[in-house]
Amino acid sequence: MLTKKVYVGMSADMIHPGHLNIIKEASKLGEVIIGLLTDKAIASYKRLPALNYEQRKIIVESIKGVERVVPQNELDYVPNLRELKPDYVVHGDDWKKGVQRQTRQRVIDTLKEWGGVLHEVPYTKGISSTQLNQSLKEVGTTPNIRMERFRRLIESKPIVRVLEAHNGLTGLIVEHASVEQDGRNKEFDAMWLSSLTDSTAKGKPDIEAVDVTSRLHSLNDILEVTTKPIIYDGDTGGIPEHFVFTVKTLERLGVSAIIIEDKTGLKKNSLFGTEVSQTQSAIEDFCCKITAGKKAQVTKDFMIIARIESLILKQGVDDAITRAAAYIEAGADGIMIHSKEKDGKEILEFCERYNKFEKRMPLVAVPSSYNHLYEKQLMEAGVNIVIYANHLLRSAYPAMVDVAETILKHERSLEVNDRCMSIKEILSLIPGTK
Ligand code: SPV
Ligand code: MG
Repeated sequence: MLTKKVYVGMSADMIHPGHLNIIKEASKLGEVIIGLLTDKAIASYKRLPALNYEQRKIIVESIKGVERVVPQNELDYVPNLRELKPDYVVHGDDWKKGVQRQTRQRVIDTLKEWGGVLHEVPYTKGISSTQLNQSLKEVGTTPNIRMERFRRLIESKPIVRVLEAHNGLTGLIVEHASVEQDGRNKEFDAMWLSSLTDSTAKGKPDIEAVDVTSRLHSLNDILEVTTKPIIYDGDTGGIPEHFVFTVKTLERLGVSAIIIEDKTGLKKNSLFGTEVSQTQSAIEDFCCKITAGKKAQVTKDFMIIARIESLILKQGVDDAITRAAAYIEAGADGIMIHSKEKDGKEILEFCERYNKFEKRMPLVAVPSSYNHLYEKQLMEAGVNIVIYANHLLRSAYPAMVDVAETILKHERSLEVNDRCMSIKEILSLIPGTK
């Protein structure tokens, strides 16, 4: 009798007795092939796994009863099933309800094409990857793991989604905000340590008056309570002799990337455009800064991203493209193109020309002005990382002013009560408060 083929799809990020039980049951039916979800497949519907595909593969291959491991490139089983035509698919019975219901139905329908059967194993109670992931989050992370995760995200996700944080509390929001939609769990992938919001939260202007030491205090508050990668807004980076120290400091702390902008002299916020006087760096000078920074870093993971201000300063797309090529040549690990035009046309034009680069590096966009564009449109234009640069502070401030003024008006706080979270909620917001 021919040995039966048994297919088991899994992420296997943190192997637990539930996985082993499924493999044991599967091996009773025949030869077990594990369809191991790739990082890309996992990132399409939930958080990137702690271990990468190769690491997970080594572990799964050595589990008793596993005959071989093949990559499952999508959440959907169908392509692998059609190729392998297994006699059985084995899965825990927990996918009958909830977001995986459709995936399950597609497996049943596809197996019917050659008379295959879905075999479901009762769910192992008391343990789940979700629970383990939660515990892992509570334990925290290490600088190294946090740092390299950003490059993994760029490789695994069609677009990396980043939100601004300027203190521990906003860091927690970016860390935990999550929305379940169409069977997918959507989260922010990383945090942007904006110079605008960090300065503003300290009541200071965004002109590099808040120095690096001070910025590091905010950074440290965020590092303490989060695990997601951090992109540090390095403003101009200062003079090259100082920039090299900033690079080493950030790298040591586990920041994934610094973005520096090609401006010189007194920096003003880009969203003023040409309303204020701002000077763009000479290309050679900025290239020297990038090269000095790249030489200073110790790991291969840390990224220095060059931000081009040509569109902000009305120097045109040609100038932006020339600069992008030069900065990449100087060693930049990515390019950020900024614009304050509302229609987003110049950004899309830049993207189209940038995509033709032979040596193309990940592209960052900050759609604060052209905010009608969806992530999907930016992604299709070639943007790899989207940064929502200031929205937590911009939403918090008017809410706080409104409450302050309402208390003044009424000379009591009853009227603002339903605009505030309850005392009970604030007391239970931060674990360990009780
Ligand atoms: C920031 O968030 O500080 C930025 C982006 O640098 S912008 O404010 O648009 O210049
Ligand atoms: Mg800034």
